[in-house]
Formats: sequence, structure tokens, C-alpha cells
Amino acid sequence: MILGIETSCDETSASVIDGERLQSLVILSQDAHTVFGGVVPEIAARAHLTSIVPVVQRALDDAHVALGDVDAIAVTHAPGLIGALLVGLSYAKGLAAALKKPLVAVHHMEGHLFAASLEHPDAVPPFTALLVSGGHTLLIDVEAWGQYRLLGATRDDAAGEAFDKVAKMLGLPYPGGRHIEQLAATGDPSRIQFTRPMLKPDQHYYDVSFSGLKTAVRLALADYAPADLARGFQDAVIDTLVEKTARAVRAYRRERVVLGGGVACNRALVAAMRERLDATVFAPSPRLATDNAAMIARAGAFRLTRGETAGPEINAYATLPLPGLEKEA
Ligand code: KG4
Ligand code: ZN
Repeated sequence: MILGIETSCDETSASVIDGERLQSLVILSQDAHTVFGGVVPEIAARAHLTSIVPVVQRALDDAHVALGDVDAIAVTHAPGLIGALLVGLSYAKGLAAALKKPLVAVHHMEGHLFAASLEHPDAVPPFTALLVSGGHTLLIDVEAWGQYRLLGATRDDAAGEAFDKVAKMLGLPYPGGRHIEQLAATGDPSRIQFTRPMLKPDQHYYDVSFSGLKTAVRLALADYAPADLARGFQDAVIDTLVEKTARAVRAYRRERVVLGGGVACNRALVAAMRERLDATVFAPSPRLATDNAAMIARAGAFRLTRGETAGPEINAYATLPLPGLEKEA
């Protein structure tokens, strides 16, 4: 029985898993940031402080578990907003010490790799992973749990960040990803076609870049309807992500693709992956695709089986490489 805690950005989340089975998941999203058009780190940290105790209690109650029945506590310690991370980490440290139970420090992106496996028993290595969130865009070959090869990443904006910035240009609320998706569904795909970023076969074989596309949308703002712009933008992002993933699937001969991160909520993206990739595509449901503590508990369970527990000296880090990463030669 593992209690997971996640506070790396603007979601306060706690979850109980039993083995690999999800028993409860509570996610409190902070609304306070919407008026600022982005996450304000100081507000995020303070909001976590207010919410962490009731959110954990609710996760235990929903799972019908008492604190004493928990075998270990898994918590995100990197990467993320440092003040936000410290709230969850400090609280988890205190709990672990008081209960005399092991503490497991989890890398947030490793959590995203495990998210789909909570719902799909076949979403297990070896697979190609595409993690697309507001802060990261990572293409990873997963040979086995804990054995990761980073193939590509974004050179500038993360995929979700690009969605959010284009949404802002179109006057849509933050975070804008799902609003773009809704608007794009009504757009005409033939009206404007943006150049697909980074698709030349020679260069940047796996990397992506979205800042040029973002500028192209900005320059077209005056001349096209918002829905057609949203559609043109989303289609370009999807084509790039599908092609990069297809390259990784081919190069490593993987039969499975696992998606994760908030942008994996985008149904057009998932549909395109399923249609065009020669592999089985697993996408978590929205509550497991976006930031949540269940994936942290699940990754923590894996690290615990390896005996990788943390002492009271464990720290939080704004950036940290994935554990078990070998860089593509
Ligand atoms: O994984 P996540 O919840 O938080 C981070 O770790 O960043 O991802 C949030 C991101 C935001 O940029 C949001 O706009 C994007 O995921 N997003 C979407 C959709 N739903 C959320 N992007 C495109 N289409 C969606 N349906
Ligand atoms: Zn995330």
C-alpha cells in the first residue's frame, strides 16, 4: 500500500495504490492562476500548503485506509517549481519519519511514464514514450522500467506551452490546450497550413521545436478566422509529434507507444497516433495524463522494489535528469 504525493506545479494531489491497483486519487487544481495567464510559483506553494493535509486525508478516506496501513510514502522531488515541490516533500518526510515508514523520492517525468500502466496492463516496456506537458516534451525509448534512452526533446517551447501561448493569442482562457482542441474541431483544415516544424529527415531527427510555428500563427492572426488558425496550428503540432514518434518506433522496432502529460488529453493527437503508427498506442485517461499522485505512487512502487528509499536529507530540485537515463550516442 503506497501513498503518493504530488505538488510539483499547480495540482495538489494524493493517491493510494495497492500493488499496481489504484485505490484512490484526489487532485485539487489551483484556480488562482487563471487570472494571471500562467502559474505563479509563490501562489502555487502557498496553495499547496493550505491543501496538502486535507487532500492526503481525503485520498486515505477514499481508499478506506488508515495512515498506519500505508507501507511507504512516494513523493515527487523533481523537477518542478521549487517552492511547490518543497511543500509535498517536507510533508512526506514528516509523515515518513512519524510513521517510521520508507520514503521514496520520485522523478515527476518517470511518474508520467507509469501513468498509462495504471489503466492498461499492456502499457509496459519495451515501448516508445512521448511525454507532452506544459513544461516538457520528451521522446524516450523505454527498454525496461528504469532503463531509459532520451531520444528527443523540444529545443524551445514544450508542446503544452505552445498550445497555451497560441490560445492566449486567440483570446482563449489559460490553460489553453483543451480550448484550442475544441475550437480546432470547428476549423477548416484546408484554410491555412503551417509548415511542419523539424520534419527534414537529416537534421534534429527526434527533436521538436514550436517557437517558429507560434510566430507563424501570430503573423497570420489578422487574416484568418480563429477556428481555422487553431486547426492549422493543432494539425502542424500533431504531424510533427506523430512523425517523431514514428521515427523512434521504427528505429527501435517497438510495438507499443505510451503517451503521457496533459497534451495526451488531446483526442485528435491520440487518434492520429492510432491511425498512423504501426504500433499499439496507449493514452491515459485525462486525470492520469495530467499531473496526479497516482503515477507518482506507481513509479515509487517500482523504485521501492529496487530498495531505492530516501533519507531525511533528500532535497527538491527544479531540474534533474531522469534516473536510469542513457543519452543517445
Ligand atoms: O501534464 P500537465 O497537466 O502539467 C504539466 O506538467 O505541465 O500538462 C498541462 C498542459 C497545458 O499546457 C495544457 O494546455 C495542456 O497540457 N493540455 C492540452 C489539452 N489538455 C491539456 N493540450 C492540448 N489539448 C488538450 N486537450
Ligand atoms: Zn507533469
